[in-house]
Amino acid sequence: MTADFLIIGSGIAGLSLAIRAAKHGKVICLTKGSLLDSNTAWAQGGIASVLAESMRDEGDSVELHIADTLDAGAGLCNEAVVRTIVSEGANTIDDLIHYGVDFDKKNGHFSLGKEGGHSKRRILHARDTTGREIAEALVAQARITENLILLENHFAIDLITTGKLGMVADDRVLGAYALNRDTGEVEIFRSDRVILATGGCGKVYLYTTNPDSATGDGVAMAWRAGATIANMEFIQFHPTCFYNPAASGAEARSFLVSEAVRGEGAILINQKGEDFTKKHDPRGSLAPRDIVARAIDHEIKRTGAPCVYLDVRHKPTGFMKERFPFIYDTLLRFGLDCEKQPIPVVPAAHYQCGGVVTDINGKTTLRGLYAIGEVACTGLHGANRLASNSLLEGNVTARRALDEMLAHLHPNRESVELMDIPAWEHGDTAAPDELVVIYHNWDEIRRLMWDYVSIVRTDNRLRRAATRLRNLKKEVREFYWGHRVNADILELRNLVSVASLIVDCAVKRKESRGLHYTTDHPNTKATHAIDTRTRKF
Ligand code: FAD
Ligand code: SIN
Repeated sequence: MTADFLIIGSGIAGLSLAIRAAKHGKVICLTKGSLLDSNTAWAQGGIASVLAESMRDEGDSVELHIADTLDAGAGLCNEAVVRTIVSEGANTIDDLIHYGVDFDKKNGHFSLGKEGGHSKRRILHARDTTGREIAEALVAQARITENLILLENHFAIDLITTGKLGMVADDRVLGAYALNRDTGEVEIFRSDRVILATGGCGKVYLYTTNPDSATGDGVAMAWRAGATIANMEFIQFHPTCFYNPAASGAEARSFLVSEAVRGEGAILINQKGEDFTKKHDPRGSLAPRDIVARAIDHEIKRTGAPCVYLDVRHKPTGFMKERFPFIYDTLLRFGLDCEKQPIPVVPAAHYQCGGVVTDINGKTTLRGLYAIGEVACTGLHGANRLASNSLLEGNVTARRALDEMLAHLHPNRESVELMDIPAWEHGDTAAPDELVVIYHNWDEIRRLMWDYVSIVRTDNRLRRAATRLRNLKKEVREFYWGHRVNADILELRNLVSVASLIVDCAVKRKESRGLHYTTDHPNTKATHAIDTRTRKF
């Protein structure tokens, strides 16, 4: 199949681009599971944006939102990018409302929430299931959009480039190979405009707030195709993932208690009931995430307790059920009444601040390849993302990427259609009968990343992780080439690549900054505010 725009991923970035792009040409949007299987659909707190003056919190301004974003980013944001994305936020909110997103209102005005690092209330939300509201509206809109082909259960395996076909003089993208999970066949999708909107890589870690689909496929594909990747050491750990050792099942393990709950007055306390976060930052429980997650990690290590607690017992009866019904009901289902008991929480891997290097319009270093949303490293987040800036970024850069693509001629469309692209060759026709190897390796990667490359790092632990990952990579490569591909093998191959990129970037950064904290280099270097760029040749 050939398309004018080949989009990989169906979260806010992919779908909002797909809907807009379909007005200008044929769009194919591939997604590896169902359309609603995305981090977007799990988002809780909301989307940060400074609205028109009559609708914003008193004293708020675009300048303040920019300042908060730069402050959270610990000296590594690209200020021009921050200015552009934050300034254009309000317009793209209008698009979402137009697609049917129903943000909460109070007395005829948008009800604005607050989260860590924000100096004002500026977060639009739909109760505590903002992501589901956005994802459902986008999917409904996409389904009725002409010129847009939505293909579920299509797992993009690798990008096809002229370089990979041996035409090294003119490296550009030609499309992608994707596994049709319903038939088991690998299909070729041709396009000279391929847009990665594949989200992040939370599943690289043992404990994460992310759904199973977040395996870093886009970063791994871009890396294999030779695009530049940067800042992968900056993995954001969300401070308040529900801690529930008795529970089994992914839902209980990765259940997030939104930062917006702290925005409404919840406080982090230790087992003795002390508000320990103030010792680390005067903003206490509402400091930026890197600071709060480190404070919790420190407290857990200091006291030997398995978790800390989020306390909302001082809020009026009925408040949680009304403002955070999903969180309230889910906790009840897990046996916890948060009006009467403090909520046990621990930090967990949440967001990938680095990724495929792009300009403000989603353009990567490989011709024809774009990256938008969490997979991209635009410079908005720097060393630590400000809460609720991610949905904002995905929505704004989707719009900008389309404008950028439309502003340029489309000279390669026909040549891509005629190009001799070899059919996929399966390594072996036998189905993998050694699934246990996959599960073992998957578990080993996630565990070693958690033990050696999480909130607090050391040179020694990073070295160990690098050595272990080198061996695992070799094993996974042999397995990959020796078996017929399936989603598990593909995700394992991507996980090991992304884990290695995180470690490589972390090893390069000989300082502590934002989300990268190492006891061997505890200070922030005044002259070292650079990306950890890394490129495969
Ligand atoms: P995603 O929404 O993750 O979509 C990626 C898509 O790509 C998925 O459809 C996936 O299946 C598909 N895909 C991946 N690999 C392949 C492949 N190989 N082939 C085909 N398809 C593929 N951010 C905020 O701003 N505000 C919040 O309140 C907020 N709350 C959050 C709460 C939770 C629990 C989580 C996990 C994240 C939260 N975030 C929040 C972060 C935010 O949700 C994500 O960063 C954002 O939704 C990413 O959007 P995206 O479109 O880039 O990627
Ligand atoms: C949350 O609701 O706490 C998540 C917000 C975010 O990740 O931006």
